[in-house]
Amino acid sequence: MFQAAAIRLDDKSEFYRDLAGQLWALLDGETDAISNAANTSALIFQMVPDLNWAGFYFLRSERELVVGPFQGKPACVRIAVGRGVCGSAVEQRRSILVEDVHAFPGHIACDEASRSELVVLLLRDGRVLGVLDLDSTIAGRFDREDQAGMEALAAIYVDASGWQGRA
Ligand code: SME
Repeated sequence: MFQAAAIRLDDKSEFYRDLAGQLWALLDGETDAISNAANTSALIFQMVPDLNWAGFYFLRSERELVVGPFQGKPACVRIAVGRGVCGSAVEQRRSILVEDVHAFPGHIACDEASRSELVVLLLRDGRVLGVLDLDSTIAGRFDREDQAGMEALAAIYVDASGWQGRA
């Protein structure tokens, strides 16, 4: 049985370092990309405060993301590259941090309570495989430390999972 260890919240870089260690241990020895995505989203949702959605969208073709394992309310299944925060991150090949989703043109509201969002890329050998998407009901919930921390978690997920191009 997995037991999440309590980790300090007052020091964000230490928090993400500890969380990265927990994720590494959780995924160690398992390469199934779907199972690992499910456990990664569950760990993040349990451990990171003030999230209302945490999960994956996988790039199933050059033009479209499809939802993967997640925690939170049911979400839109398909997002075209270039659309919404997730599709924009893929198109621009970069993480996108949105302090106020109401001010982001084209934001796709899966849960109307969401106010801020962080999307980081899943990258293998420079190729975008999809995104890890985090939502919060608190405006300005995410900062650059969250971005760096989530990028590190996304990299651990990709490294652990036997990606042969798709989940
Ligand atoms: N808000 C995202 C859509 C996915 S949900 O947040 C789960 C977007 O604009 O791409």
